[in-house]
Amino acid sequence: MTIKPLRKAVFPVAGLGTRFLPATKAMPKEMLTVVDKPLIQYAVEEALEAGIEQIIFVTGRGKSALEDHFDISYELEATMKARGKSLSLIENIRQKPGSPVYVRQQEPLGLGHAVWCAREIVGDEPFAVLLPDELMVGGFMKQMVEAYNKVGGNLIGALEVPAEETDKYGIITPGKIDGRLTEVLEVIEKPKQGTAKSNLMTPGRYILQPEVMKILDNPVKGAGGEIQLTDAMAQLIGKQPFHGFTFDGQRYDCGDKAGFIQANLALALARDDIGSVVRAFAKELLA
Ligand code: G1P
Repeated sequence: MTIKPLRKAVFPVAGLGTRFLPATKAMPKEMLTVVDKPLIQYAVEEALEAGIEQIIFVTGRGKSALEDHFDISYELEATMKARGKSLSLIENIRQKPGSPVYVRQQEPLGLGHAVWCAREIVGDEPFAVLLPDELMVGGFMKQMVEAYNKVGGNLIGALEVPAEETDKYGIITPGKIDGRLTEVLEVIEKPKQGTAKSNLMTPGRYILQPEVMKILDNPVKGAGGEIQLTDAMAQLIGKQPFHGFTFDGQRYDCGDKAGFIQANLALALARDDIGSVVRAFAKELLA
């Protein structure tokens, strides 16, 4: 088996963000900040650290702040330069010419449909998918790429969640376990309470083979009446290697208000500049 190197990553960012209204009425949810960095930047940095070369955003109406965020801001740069301020925080998010690539998902038909909208850009190559509302600290994609370079095929994140949360996620039916790798026998999107075969969920990090796009050419509606990525990739099980990968690091579900606040608190406490002030305040507040 030849393992094609991973060069491209798809970021589905067309979602409406209704869970965060009113914050997301006129602002993309991916621009919500954890301390001082938007969620999307954490995800893009995670991909770049993993050696990804081509960033592909699947975007939609009302999301132009995302495009501007990864572009040059002449006004800001000129003003900061004139004031003698360092440009490092805005220069390092510039992408090489031609990246990111933006494609549109015109209608919110589901994650599978969003990923399929990038098919022409992905072409006949393996690709990663990163869901930016899942914030990972510790280099999840980098660890996945290292594992992928050994086993190839399809590799999806696999993390344990409490049993009462399994109906919120894609759930893996595990086979043989080998260190951080778990053979995937089945993956089921949002199984009903009490029917999950495990509590191993897939947290929005995927390395997939291009054949999944062919499956999505003939989409089927799944959980929630949406075209699910989970259902399409499940069809590759048994035909191509398919593993879950358990990450050594911290996950914050920033698609959820409590998870988002937890991420802000944890990352603020870990910061050299504000950590001690925040810690003192948190102690006082809880006392
Ligand atoms: C999506 C995926 C699901 C995955 C989850 C991770 O669900 O469909 O398989 O477990 O992301 O956050 P969503 O959060 O879009 O409902």
